Amino acid sequence: MSQVHPGVLPAAVREDFPLLLGADAPVYLDNAATTQKPRVVIDAVADYYRTANSNVGRGHHRLAMAATDRYERARATVARFLGARHADEVVFTANTTDSTNLVADVVGRRVVGRGDRVVVSGLEHNSNLLPWRRLCEQVGAELVVAPVDADGRVDLPAFAALMGPRVRLVAAAHVSNVLGTVNPVGEMTAEAHRHGALVLVDGAQAVAHLPVDVTELGADFYCFSGHKVYGPMGVGVLYGRRELLADLPPYRVGGGTVKGVSHHEPVRYVPAPARFEAGTPNVAGAVGLAAGLEYLLDLGMPAVRAHDESLVGAALEAVADLDDVVVVGDPGATPCGIVSLSVRGIHPYDVGGHLDAHGIAVRCGVHCASTFLDSLGLVGTVRLSFAVYNTLAEVDHVRSVLASARPGAWTAEHPTERFL
Ligand SMILES: Cc1ncc(COP(=O)(O)O)c(C=O)c1O
Repeated sequence: MSQVHPGVLPAAVREDFPLLLGADAPVYLDNAATTQKPRVVIDAVADYYRTANSNVGRGHHRLAMAATDRYERARATVARFLGARHADEVVFTANTTDSTNLVADVVGRRVVGRGDRVVVSGLEHNSNLLPWRRLCEQVGAELVVAPVDADGRVDLPAFAALMGPRVRLVAAAHVSNVLGTVNPVGEMTAEAHRHGALVLVDGAQAVAHLPVDVTELGADFYCFSGHKVYGPMGVGVLYGRRELLADLPPYRVGGGTVKGVSHHEPVRYVPAPARFEAGTPNVAGAVGLAAGLEYLLDLGMPAVRAHDESLVGAALEAVADLDDVVVVGDPGATPCGIVSLSVRGIHPYDVGGHLDAHGIAVRCGVHCASTFLDSLGLVGTVRLSFAVYNTLAEVDHVRSVLASARPGAWTAEHPTERFL
């Protein structure tokens, strides 16, 4: 079925992922929700607990030093992966959502005031929308939504037209979790900076697919989640420019954040990144995340890009002659491992159920981005999202199962709320 796609990674990559081996292994195409974990990540987490588990940054015994060393080495790996100039520009958080909330709370409340504006794009995930909505409600600012063009990217001229002296902050996804399209975040950042606004880029869907260089990008903040880039759940990253982090008050306060504390004198906080990591951090998570990033770097981002291109290209080809399948947006332009589609006359949940019955795991619905789906006039999409272990044979299987999809229990009138 598929043409020749020379960029596909070797089939042996799949052997690295225990959950995907064996006769009953799913065709796992829900990677935008979370990726499966390679053995090196599982082993790194287990090895940390077996050989180095202790609390970090506090104890002075050998084990505490070993744990601290692994934690800080993980931070250095993240900094290298992101092209950050300094490891202390990397704050470990719980996930992307935690990172956007941190910036909204700590930065937003400082720089955004009554009558100011915060600009988000029209395709944001709730995790990069709700913290800004709440901030605007709290301080009496206006949330402004930058329009998205017909292909599913922020419309740059329209975005530029929104900029002005009242815009204090811009928050936008690097890659859409619904369509896999890439926003022009470099140009948006430059434009926002011309007007003195700070910029946060949500890289949750980007880091597993694009080489990211935060220094080159120039954004003030960049965040992502470990679990979407072959690492564990419960650990995320907030990159922040050193000068900015140095100037900020803490987010949550508690152990690990203070240099000096008394009952009544002003508290002296430690510098970033520890200032933003109150309480015991997810050390094993950070170690596993670093192992996931190393795994990706070992495969090589050019090879990962070529793999994405091949699979997305093959998927688009495969559904092109299925009359009732409509691809949403333009995922082929800069493939980032996502193809979102609708099947005419069949509710996305029915399509998802049918695929699941044939061993194919996809996400259906609004993908935590109901405002974007509303703007597209869709009750949801069926999202195929690829990773390094997916194969062209899996794409062919999806095509034949899609071709046999029929309306089922759901109707187009069903509410979407159940699956937000
Ligand atoms: C673009 C985008 N931003 C933010 C998030 C939230 O990620 P997490 O749930 O790991 O915080 C997601 C998750 O799907 C996402 O796709």
